[in-house]
Amino acid sequence: MALVSCCAALASVLPTNVFLPNSSTYASANSNRWSTTSTLSPSCVVLPGTTQDVSSVMQILTQNQCPFAIKSGGHMANPGFNNIDGGVSLDLSQLNAVELSDDLLTTRLGTGAEWQRVYDNTPGVVVPGGLCGGTGVGGVSLGGGMSIFLAELGWTANNIVDYEMVLANGSVVHANGTSHPNLFLALRGGGANFGVLTHVTILNAQLTNLVYAGQVLNGLTDRSAKALLRVLTRYTAANNRDPGAGMQTIFKVGGDGKNEVETLYGHRMGLTALLPVPFLSPAIFDDLLGIYPQTLAIASPAPMSLLSSMAQSAQANGFRDGLATITFENDRATIEAVHQVTWDICKSVADIPNLDCFWSYVPLPDIVTANSLKRGGNVLGLERKRCDRMGT
Ligand SMILES: Cc1cc2nc3c(=O)[nH]c(=O)nc-3n(C[C@H](O)[C@H](O)[C@H](O)COP(=O)(O)OP(=O)(O)OC[C@H]3O[C@@H](n4cnc5c(N)ncnc54)[C@H](O)[C@@H]3O)c2cc1C
Ligand SMILES: *[C@@H]1O[C@H](CO)[C@@H](O)[C@H](O)[C@H]1NC(C)=O
Ligand SMILES: *[C@@H]1O[C@H](CO)[C@@H](O)[C@H](O)[C@H]1NC(C)=O
Ligand SMILES: *[C@@H]1O[C@H](CO)[C@@H](O)[C@H](O)[C@H]1NC(C)=O
Repeated sequence: MALVSCCAALASVLPTNVFLPNSSTYASANSNRWSTTSTLSPSCVVLPGTTQDVSSVMQILTQNQCPFAIKSGGHMANPGFNNIDGGVSLDLSQLNAVELSDDLLTTRLGTGAEWQRVYDNTPGVVVPGGLCGGTGVGGVSLGGGMSIFLAELGWTANNIVDYEMVLANGSVVHANGTSHPNLFLALRGGGANFGVLTHVTILNAQLTNLVYAGQVLNGLTDRSAKALLRVLTRYTAANNRDPGAGMQTIFKVGGDGKNEVETLYGHRMGLTALLPVPFLSPAIFDDLLGIYPQTLAIASPAPMSLLSSMAQSAQANGFRDGLATITFENDRATIEAVHQVTWDICKSVADIPNLDCFWSYVPLPDIVTANSLKRGGNVLGLERKRCDRMGT
């Protein structure tokens, strides 16, 4: 069927949910993405409001063999991953429910919600979702998911107890411990192509929204970089002994000549939920606080929503972004080599106007795998290698 007819067929069934290029809703939905590289030109944008709407959409798309792309938080920069030229943009941003269960143990989330919205709307708990507030529930839940609680609780996907999914033929299924167990395993890190994920139910990490949150800004010099890499390697090895801690470091080489390193860190409350968060800096961060030049070092108990918005503001929306990522052993010589290559690339493009270079290190201690296995495992394949790792 011609693409225009796909949009017309959708509009005939869901007249108030389909938007053509001449509407302002199309423009705002289409541009509401982290990177402008993923803003393409779909024939129409469909904004389903319910799981049943998604089911109707999938029946029409499948029956008419319409090309389409799925978008949740829209944080993926690669053109064509969450958008499409000339096809249907299935935009889940209206599926953004955040519902705490009566027993406070779980939260049900619409996959179109961004994690910032989740943290902003769960004042009594913390959900183990993406650290960066702008990432979406959909992509993070399917891809694995790195929260500030990664070491202690495993991947975000390992904390999801129910995935609600619309299959290609429009059937709505629940994949969980007792229903569609193979699909349940496949969705934990298996990526995007099993169906349209509409809602997840996730175990809450703790019964207060407070975490111990810190931010350190260092000037970027050869010496501070070397010291930070040393801290990161030691921290990753020590995270097993203090799994409540989480940390990410972002190196920035700006087109404005401003070169700095931002480290965000956090510590979760004890498992005995009513103990207060630590009011003194956890010892695992001591080495980090001793690195100079240091332009800022702040830390205190704070709502999770503050930490996630700080992570988001370090990597703002609205630029053209290109990304690459590698994972390697937690070893000083290796991280120094990775670092040198990356910094050299950034130096080689430093003269290009309006171009910023960022690279970040995300510790991935061995205990993540063990703690993920305790929560049912996943299909990321990381258990095949036993050493501590570092993602960047
Ligand atoms: C600056 C930056 C910071 C990041 N920080 C974190 C972080 O703190 N923690 C973390 O875990 N990850 C982080 N990521 C990675 C991010 O989680 C992934 O890019 C993730 O896929 C984004 O999810 P999304 O829903 O926002 O993306 P989208 O762009 O909407 O979707 C990503 C992919 O998943 C598919 N998809 C999305 N939703 C669905 C659905 N409901 N059903 C089926 N398929 C779907 C899309 O088609 C697309 O291919 C970060 C990435 C960047 C660029
Ligand atoms: C947009 O175009 C469609 C089809 O051509 C038309 O029916 C509709 O009225 C237009 N809407 C606006 C807001 O101009
Ligand atoms: C939809 O697909 C699933 C999985 O293949 C199948 O089990 C189910 O019977 C199908 N439903 C309909 C209504 O065809
Ligand atoms: C698992 O799926 C079944 C079947 O849809 C449902 O009845 C049950 O409530 C689900 N379990 C959880 C934990 O959501």
